Amino acid sequence: MHWTLRTATSEYVVGLFGETGSPQALALEYWGAAGGATGPWPKPAIRYSYETPADLAPLEYASNGTRHVHRSELLVEHDDGLSGAVWTYVSHEQSATELAVLFRDDTGRLELVQHVLVRPDSDVVERWVDVRNVSTDHEVRLGRVLSAAWSVHAPDGAVLHYPAGSWSHEFGPEAVPLRQGVLQIGSRYGVTGHLHAPAMTVTVPGRADAFGVQLAWSGSWTIAAEADPGGLLRVSAGIDDETTTVRLTPGRTFTTPRSWGVWSPDGEWGVARAWHRHQRLVNPRATDPYHRPIVYNSWFATRFDLRADHQLELARTAAELGVEAFVIDDGWFGTRSSDRSGLGDWTVRRDAFPDGLLPLATAVTELGMRFGLWVELEGVNLDSDLYRAHPDWVYRVGDRPLVTMRHQTVLNLGLTAVRSHLAGVLRRLLTELPITYLKWDLNRPITDPGPADSEWSVAHTEGYYGLLRLLRDEFPHVTVEACAGGGGRVDTAVAELADVVWTSDETGPRDRLVIQDGFLRAFGAHLMSGWVTDLPGSRFPEPVSDGFRLVTSMAGVLGFGADLGTWDAARRKAAADAVALYKELRPVLLTGDVHVHGSPRSGEYALEYVTPQRSVKLVWAASDADVIVTDREGITP
Ligand code: DGJ
Repeated sequence: MHWTLRTATSEYVVGLFGETGSPQALALEYWGAAGGATGPWPKPAIRYSYETPADLAPLEYASNGTRHVHRSELLVEHDDGLSGAVWTYVSHEQSATELAVLFRDDTGRLELVQHVLVRPDSDVVERWVDVRNVSTDHEVRLGRVLSAAWSVHAPDGAVLHYPAGSWSHEFGPEAVPLRQGVLQIGSRYGVTGHLHAPAMTVTVPGRADAFGVQLAWSGSWTIAAEADPGGLLRVSAGIDDETTTVRLTPGRTFTTPRSWGVWSPDGEWGVARAWHRHQRLVNPRATDPYHRPIVYNSWFATRFDLRADHQLELARTAAELGVEAFVIDDGWFGTRSSDRSGLGDWTVRRDAFPDGLLPLATAVTELGMRFGLWVELEGVNLDSDLYRAHPDWVYRVGDRPLVTMRHQTVLNLGLTAVRSHLAGVLRRLLTELPITYLKWDLNRPITDPGPADSEWSVAHTEGYYGLLRLLRDEFPHVTVEACAGGGGRVDTAVAELADVVWTSDETGPRDRLVIQDGFLRAFGAHLMSGWVTDLPGSRFPEPVSDGFRLVTSMAGVLGFGADLGTWDAARRKAAADAVALYKELRPVLLTGDVHVHGSPRSGEYALEYVTPQRSVKLVWAASDADVIVTDREGITP
């Protein structure tokens, strides 16, 4: 049995591995250009012993008990001590865009459904599984339950490209050759994280094409690439198995998040363009300019030193520049005059705004801009009314001392009481004030989950998604900027449920260019929020022109974060001109196909955004930058 799924330009072919009576599974047969040679999967480049047939096959999803030598995506342990699963094909359903294949295990207690989904206008293949306990009296423990494995034939090894960095240096492009062994990236602290985003691209020396893998998940996650000596490289992706154990009680089904895979004939940047297109497709708001306003955010200008009259002054200047949304960051609530107190108390800070926020919000609206606020809904200072009232709402391991960072801890979003409290906070804030922009931050990892709660990261992530969905359903006019201490919450699930992401706390332009270059390898420009500030870069502090800074922020969703009160008339005029130009070019910059020339550290670098009508080239050279617009002949832009 074979099943073929056609994407926009490629083909994904899977078949049934294993005869009746022996372990069965889905195996990849072909992944490449539509109409390409779909012969059998190449035999291992060398002969070797000990591996079983299932270990040598490009299995789409493997379990312990079926695969013995190499990694499996699913680890099964029954409550009577039996471990592993041996599957038999039961049935399948297929349409032009979807395949679902059902397997049953040899105990008759478990069912596995493998899903494959494609869309005619994208080259991305989405895959996930359901694991169902159909027994009435046995609990089954899943020590690992990943979403999918993606196979690539790489007889001489492959190069793995992935985002690697840290706070303020996110998305640094890393490239590591792998001939044999395992390379694993991930997060085990409940948030997507700064170290890596869940994305990996595979290139094979001597070949021009490339394969990409992503995971649409914002909690703890893992992506592991394993290369065997016979030339099979499998990249598996899913929820982190170190911090998550799923207990399948009788009747329960666990559905994994989706993993995205893509093949591109055009190498790493071809994969990137396919990701961008798919991210725009799965988010119905992705191409809506309303949800990508030019923001002024006052964080870098004022930090916690918030005063109503000063914010209004900044707002007036921002409006002169052509800014579309004025956003007050951290510090507007509770007793939050520093990061030591008030987090969790979402009422207006009276020493900063004695008359409340309504007069400022109204003035901002009258200036022709939208009004926005920052929140860190999951965060809570120990010195806050919320923590004093509900110390049992935060993560805590038994009675061990809490690990605090930035004087705060994290609310357990797995608790219904916490979710309804935060839903209430959102509903109140968004109805009391004319807020149309919300920046949702999280400034620390989750470190203290309860020991008995082995699904805390899943529950937390679902709680986060639930609140994002509430925003979308009940407040569709509110734009959401996702953030976790800069770019710590950037993944394709966030790309679907939020509008933009705060890319990094590093706004120094040379550093930023490097971060953005890495970001764009996995995520679209329509998500990449970037403010123009006056701050020097922490790694590459050499000065640059204002034009360099402006063009750097124009590469995605333009914004401003400088203390505009210190800008003279000439700087304001230059910024206003850049804003006007950006507004004209925005459709191309946010939806065009991105092509990259040079490297941001080589001295000459350009990003070219191409639509059928127009191409916009942003060029950086030495300490200056330029914008070159080319209209296609005969086509009116
Ligand atoms: C981290 C964010 O990345 C910043 O932009 C800012 O919102 C601070 N948190 C505020 O605490």
